[in-house]
Amino acid sequence: MTQAPITVFGGTGFLGRHVVQELFDAGHAVRIAARRPALPHWAEPGDPLEPMSIDIRSESDVSQALDGALGAVNAVSLYVERRRLTFDQVHVEGAGRLARLARTQGVKVLIQLSGIGASSSSRSPYVRARGRGESAVIDAYPKAIILRPSVMFGPDDAFLSRLADLTRLPVIPLFGHGETKLQPVHVVDVARAIVRLLGVAPSGRRLFELGGLDILRYREVLELIMAHLKRERPLLPIPFPLWHLAAVLASPLPGPPLTRDQVQMMAEDNTVGEGVGTFADLDILPRSLRDALPDCLPARSSDSRR
Ligand SMILES: NC(=O)c1ccc[n+]([C@@H]2O[C@H](COP(=O)([O-])OP(=O)(O)OC[C@H]3O[C@@H](n4cnc5c(N)ncnc54)[C@H](OP(=O)(O)O)[C@@H]3O)[C@@H](O)[C@H]2O)c1
Repeated sequence: MTQAPITVFGGTGFLGRHVVQELFDAGHAVRIAARRPALPHWAEPGDPLEPMSIDIRSESDVSQALDGALGAVNAVSLYVERRRLTFDQVHVEGAGRLARLARTQGVKVLIQLSGIGASSSSRSPYVRARGRGESAVIDAYPKAIILRPSVMFGPDDAFLSRLADLTRLPVIPLFGHGETKLQPVHVVDVARAIVRLLGVAPSGRRLFELGGLDILRYREVLELIMAHLKRERPLLPIPFPLWHLAAVLASPLPGPPLTRDQVQMMAEDNTVGEGVGTFADLDILPRSLRDALPDCLPARSSDSRR
C-alpha cells in the first residue's frame, strides 16, 4: 500500500466489517487486523486493503499492525471468557498495549470502542473490564477518542436475530418486567461516526455515546419484532434472581446461551447520558430501529403464516 493505512483491529467483526467498508468508501487505505483476517467479499484485486494476522495480546503483533498507520480503531471484542482468554487480557491489557504502541509509533488518531455503561465499579466483570480498559487507553494515549455505542443492530446482527428466535417460543420470557431502556443503534451509523472522527478533530470532545433515534423498553423491542414478523406471543415476566441462577447453571457449557454479564447488563438502562459527545456533534442523524427493521430482519414468507 502506498497510502498510509488506517488499521482496524477487529476489522472482520460485526462493527469492524462496516468500519472497513466506510473507510474504504471514503478513500482510505485499510489494514484489517484480526487473528483470522480476511478480505471483505466485495474487495477487488488492487484495492488498498491489507489483511494482517495479529493477536491483540502480542506486543510484536500489535506493533506490526500499527507500523506506518495514520490512525487506528480498536473494535476487538470478547464477550465470554474462556480458560486462556480473559476480559483483562483483551479489554484492559490489549487495549492499553494498543494505545501505548500507537502513541510511541506516532499514530495520529486512535478510536477505542467501549460500550454505554462501562464502569470500573460495575458488578459485571465484563463491564468492569471495559471501564478499566478505557482508563488504560487514556493513560497511555490521552488524546484517544472513546466511543460507547448502545446495543448495535443491522443486517446479520446478533441482537435482532436472537430476539427473533425468541419469538418462536410459545411464551417469551422477559428480563424482569422487560422495562429496561435500550437505544439500539444501527451499525452503519456507528461506522460512519468512526470515519468522521478519524477525519475531523471533534471540538475537543473525547468521549462519545452513540444511541439510535428510538429509546425503547426491552418489551417494546420484542413487540416491534413480533409485529414485524406477524407473530403474537404472550410475554412472561421472570425475576432477575432466576435469570442469574440460569446463567450460573449455564456457565460450565462451552458456548453458554446466557451469561451473568448479559443478565447484569439487562438489568440496567443502556441509553446515551448527559455531557458526552453524541451523533449530533458529528452531524449524523441516526436511523430508527422501527424504520430500519424490515431491512435488517427479513420477514420470511413461512414466518408470516405462523
Ligand atoms: N455488538 C454490539 O451490540 C456492541 C455494543 C456496544 C459496544 N460494542 C463494542 O464494539 C466493539 C466491536 O464489537 P463487535 O460486536 O463488532 O465484535 P465481534 O463481532 O465479536 O468482532 C470481534 C472482532 O475482534 C477480533 N478479535 C477477537 N479477539 C481478538 C484478539 N485476541 N486479537 C485480535 N483480534 C481479535 C475478531 O476476529 P478474530 O476472532 O479472527 O480475531 C473480530 O474481528 C467491541 O469493543 C464491543 O464491545 C459492541
